[in-house]
Parts: sequence; structure tokens; C-alpha cells
Amino acid sequence: MLKGETLDLVHRIIKRYPEGKQKSALIPVLHIAQSENDGWLSAEAMDEVAKLLGIQPVEVFEVATFYSMFNLQPVGKCVIEVCQTGPCWLKGAEEILAHFQKRLGIKPGETTPDGKFTLKTVECLAACGRAPVIQAGTEYYENLTIQKVDNLLDQWMADDKNSHSNPYA
Ligand code: FES
Repeated sequence: MLKGETLDLVHRIIKRYPEGKQKSALIPVLHIAQSENDGWLSAEAMDEVAKLLGIQPVEVFEVATFYSMFNLQPVGKCVIEVCQTGPCWLKGAEEILAHFQKRLGIKPGETTPDGKFTLKTVECLAACGRAPVIQAGTEYYENLTIQKVDNLLDQWMADDKNSHSNPYA
């Protein structure tokens, strides 16, 4: 799955860490593996990462299952992560989430039948001062309103948005 320039990038990232500490590159390498695998980490992708880092597959699985930014099932072309933690909730995250659900016809954890959007809820995205916040790939969208959500979705539908870009490319 990882080859060519992407594999070279992975090796450069691994080399940033001292001998015997290659496991420290796990999170960036998982991000790259996920972006190269249509936005999710299959068992094969995680095995490949384990082999590259010289660690056990279960060590990769432990990290991949801990963080909501890693997807362990196939996802849509654009993954929308809606923050549901206190400050966003106080600023209307519930209404924002409900509006995404209404527009897309799916609930959190689901993907639209055309495979274009996956909706997720996540904990604090660390941008509380600009709540309510969502993330799509490497991009944050802040101070959201229902109107802004409509504008974003209209744009993303028109552009056929793909959120699976390699954050290290
Ligand atoms: Fe949503 Fe912190 S609570 S970004």
C-alpha cells in the first residue's frame, strides 16, 4: 500500500527518531497509511505499519483504536467530525450536528449511500474559543452557524470534497 514517494516520506519520518525508538513515528505513519487507504486503517494497513516500524501489530491496533482521528471501517470521501464537548455544546453543537444529520440523511457513525460523506462526533478539537467547531481532514471550520453549515455542504457537494489528503505531504 505504501510505495514510491509516500514510502520515502515514511522512511524519512522514521529516521527522525533514535535507533530503537522508531515506534515514536507511529502516529504520523498511521496518518499517512490512512490517507493512502481511502481514509481508513484496514488490518492489512496496520500490519504494514507494524512491519515498517518493527513493532507488533497489536501495538499499532492499540493506538489506532484509542484516537478518534483513526477510522477502522471504510468511510466516505469526506469525513465530518463534529465536536460535542462542553464549550461547543454550549455554543450550539447539538443544533449543528442535527443539521448535518438532516442535510445528509445519516446519523453519527454512518456514511451516505453515495459514499461521499461520513458523519462522526468527537471530543474537544482544541479550538474551544471558536466554538462550535468541526473538522474535515486537516481543516477546521469554526464559529459555525446553520447558514455556514449549509454553505459548506453546498460547496463540498459541488466540489466532490475529499478529506483524505496526506497531512505530511
Ligand atoms: Fe469543541 Fe473544544 S469543546 S473545540
